[in-house]
Amino acid sequence: MYHKPQARERPDLPHYGPRGLPPTECLLRVLAIESSCDESAAAVLDRDRGLLAHELFSQIELHRRYGGVVPELASRDHIRRLLPLVQSVLASSGTSPQDLGGVAYTAGPGLIGALLTGAALARSLAYAWQVPAIGVHHLEGHLLAPLLEADPPPFPHVALLVSGGHTMLIEARAIGRYELLGETRDDAAGEAFDKTAKLLGLPYPGGPHLARLAARGRRGAFEFPRPMLDRPGLEFSFSGLKTAVLHAVRATPDLSDTVKADVACAVQEAIVETLMAKAVRALEQTGLDVLVVSGGVSANQSLRERLTEAVRQRGGRVYYPRTEFCTDNAAMIAVAGLARLAAGQHDGLAPDVLADEGLTHQSQHGHTRGGSGHEGTVASGLAIQARAQWALSTLRPLPSTPDP
Ligand SMILES: Nc1ncnc2c1ncn2[C@@H]1O[C@H](COP(=O)(O)OP(=O)(O)OP(=O)(O)O)[C@@H](O)[C@H]1O
Ligand SMILES: [Mg+2]
Repeated sequence: MYHKPQARERPDLPHYGPRGLPPTECLLRVLAIESSCDESAAAVLDRDRGLLAHELFSQIELHRRYGGVVPELASRDHIRRLLPLVQSVLASSGTSPQDLGGVAYTAGPGLIGALLTGAALARSLAYAWQVPAIGVHHLEGHLLAPLLEADPPPFPHVALLVSGGHTMLIEARAIGRYELLGETRDDAAGEAFDKTAKLLGLPYPGGPHLARLAARGRRGAFEFPRPMLDRPGLEFSFSGLKTAVLHAVRATPDLSDTVKADVACAVQEAIVETLMAKAVRALEQTGLDVLVVSGGVSANQSLRERLTEAVRQRGGRVYYPRTEFCTDNAAMIAVAGLARLAAGQHDGLAPDVLADEGLTHQSQHGHTRGGSGHEGTVASGLAIQARAQWALSTLRPLPSTPDP
């Protein structure tokens, strides 16, 4: 049931939108904005009618010549792209501001300047339209992306989050209840794909290129380490892999396309087998039989095939997002934002600055996150929040989620 938000005479007061209203009475259609790294994206999600629109502009061409994301260029391009994307998804979904129950945006973790462009736009629109805004954790977005599918995964489950900046095994008991089981000590899986692809002269971002090349390679022609497989526990380490590949490349004077394909095949095998073994170990450890795999690397076909088979043999099942929602997108931010708005959560208008956490930090992508050292900023009573770093474990559980 929809009802229009009432225009308030005191828009600075935080008591608006769904706060105080039973969850079912608030508007359950959200506009979502994603701008944490090098994708500008917007989406409209309706609780009853599903995903109504989603659009994305990838900055890959902008950054390609530098071999990685240049944070300042990313921020500037988000400013150019985001508003037209928002206008487009609103128009194509037939949504007017009066139909919206809130605006969700990626508040972190990510590049601080890039995050701020989306946060500023989202908070400004929400303020102008008098609807609540909610800052979404980017990784919660990745974790919940499979909920967009017709056959969504049940909770509880083990989640393997494999993206460009993160490699994590998580016990997800419900939306908002995430326990970290293990993560990478150094490079993320996506980063391992990208860095080894770079050594083979493949364009940025190398993951998908390396995967395509690997399909032509001969298994067993090269052998690279399976990091930390010989140890108990659920941690990962991928930095040794790129060193091993570097040595192999240097030791091969004639790096023909055939040899490159063999190297790519061995790299993919090492990453996939490591992820597979640890994911199965996490299922054993938790006693769960549902695995959810998300993040950019979950688009990898070899990983999907191997994981699906390994978990099926144990009597379990693996769920993935559709390929286009493996990498960054706004639809997944809409899922997380809608769940939280529907449960009555949103960010108030109070200027709650998040300025003392993390500060500047050299990211695993090789660029500086949190450039200015400021984690958040505030503009005249509007709480525009962005966090370069944000621990998933600090997320608020949904009120409807009982303690197990
Ligand atoms: N088919 C594929 N095989 C392997 N890797 C892939 C494939 N497709 C994408 N990737 C990798 O996925 C990564 C991008 O994923 P994603 O967009 O989720 O990461 P990110 O948003 O940069 O990182 P994070 O979400 O941790 O901040 C890149 O490292 C890319 O190479
Ligand atoms: Mg991401």
